[in-house]
Amino acid sequence: MKTIGYVIGEASPSYASFISKTIPKLGEYVVLEYDNKKVLGIVRSVIMGSISLSEDIHDPAIVEKIRSLEGKRDHYIKGIIKILGDVNSFEIPRTPPPPATEVKRADSYTLQQVFSKKEKGLRIGVLASNPEVPVYIDVNRMVSRHLAILAITGAGKSNTVAVISEGLLKLGGAALIFDMHSEYIDARFKNGEVNPIYPRLNPLNLHVSELLRLMNIDSKAYKQEYYFRKALNKTIQLINKGQVDRDQFFVALEKVLSKFIKSEEKRKDVGTILSVRNKLEALLDKYGSLMDLKAPPVVSQIKLGYVNVVDLGSLDEEACDVVVSHFLRTLLYSRKSYKSRGKGLPFPLFIVIEEAHILAPKDRTTLAKYWISRIAREGRKFGLGLCLVSQRPKALDPDTLSQANNMIVLRLVEPSDQRYVQQASETLSEDLLEQLSSLNIGEAIILGLMVRIPAIVKIDKFEGKLSGGDIDIVGEWKKCSDRFLEVEKMYNDVVEDW
Ligand SMILES: Nc1ncnc2c1ncn2[C@@H]1O[C@H](COP(=O)(O)OP(=O)(O)O)[C@@H](O)[C@H]1O
Ligand SMILES: [Mg+2]
Repeated sequence: MKTIGYVIGEASPSYASFISKTIPKLGEYVVLEYDNKKVLGIVRSVIMGSISLSEDIHDPAIVEKIRSLEGKRDHYIKGIIKILGDVNSFEIPRTPPPPATEVKRADSYTLQQVFSKKEKGLRIGVLASNPEVPVYIDVNRMVSRHLAILAITGAGKSNTVAVISEGLLKLGGAALIFDMHSEYIDARFKNGEVNPIYPRLNPLNLHVSELLRLMNIDSKAYKQEYYFRKALNKTIQLINKGQVDRDQFFVALEKVLSKFIKSEEKRKDVGTILSVRNKLEALLDKYGSLMDLKAPPVVSQIKLGYVNVVDLGSLDEEACDVVVSHFLRTLLYSRKSYKSRGKGLPFPLFIVIEEAHILAPKDRTTLAKYWISRIAREGRKFGLGLCLVSQRPKALDPDTLSQANNMIVLRLVEPSDQRYVQQASETLSEDLLEQLSSLNIGEAIILGLMVRIPAIVKIDKFEGKLSGGDIDIVGEWKKCSDRFLEVEKMYNDVVEDW
């Protein structure tokens, strides 16, 4: 390894100043050897200065004179190194590097030792500073300690999700993506396939809170809720007794409500019960295609070795909330039941939630938020990993975000978003934070237990096909106007013939 400088002045176990022979690059990795340790550091700041050309020179003629005497050699280069940890143990050493310790440019071999551990890992990209060094993330730690992917729109979040999914396929794993914009449903992967899941919910499997949300009965409408619950219980009783066929669930529910309306004792609440019945009809109008009395339990549709994609593209926010909540609730129960009784989903799952700030918002309650936070807290024990994806981190529920022990933060510009992310993460240091707004597309800071040391990474470009991305607006206009001209010509021809 090439020596580029020496430690000078006062050093601490985590920072050291050095004087350099060449101009080191910001973000370059260096190695310091002391106390029988090989320690990795990163160049955090570089300054170039001059003793003879000090700041209190007020006459350019003096500079010209010194220039002619000294040439251009009159300068020094100093830098500050942040010590990242021992190359083998990844612990921060307890002692500072002594003065005159050699500062060496880290070679690829050393960097690969740190960032390229392939075992149980997936390749996410390369070091931005050293593109010859691939970066692998530890999949066990990613799934068991959750992940947040945060960045402004267009910075590369969906691409990252696709690269991770491809890596999971390669390891024979399984992902479940809640696809809010139908981006992944037609994706093509090299190591496996998409298992498309078009959400069909069996109302008999829905929780009463899920039905209430779809009917737009909120918790303040307690009388409506009371009558709905009563009617639902009665209908289920009738089904259980065999007096009503399961296929007739909605018809029976409506009949029970109509009976309530006619009954003498409930006369004073007729208005309320009528509202409930109207809301039931509205539910069938609006979400009839989502409901299917023959739909199998959602968990049975999830396959190992596939990227399972739930297509939510055509659903509104309420319906997305119900679908996600229903999947997460049943998944958590299913994994718990598998662990205790051997019945349920038999494999761990990595669950990707796009638009996480809508499903788990900071200042509103949603059904999905409750189950997202439950899985964030309990998922580790049952092999359910969450991946929260968001372009508005500060609108995300802070408790849930802080459960994500791993982060991939791509370009993030707004200072309030940056601060919010920093509060949720123990490892996003001030100097890394400063880099967030200057990252290019696809460049990310990767933090947390899934990497040994925080790193700035150029994420791989997903090689398969993804249907999101940016639309070529001008191109589409041109295509349409060409077609329009064709139609116009045809029309003119016809008119002429006539
Ligand atoms: N790592 C990368 N390398 C090259 N191009 C990328 C990378 N990440 C994203 N892109 C490109 O940038 C565009 C936006 O990426 P996307 O993942 O859809 O962003 P986001 O989901 O954050 O809005 C896409 O056209 C994509 O191909
Ligand atoms: Mg996206």
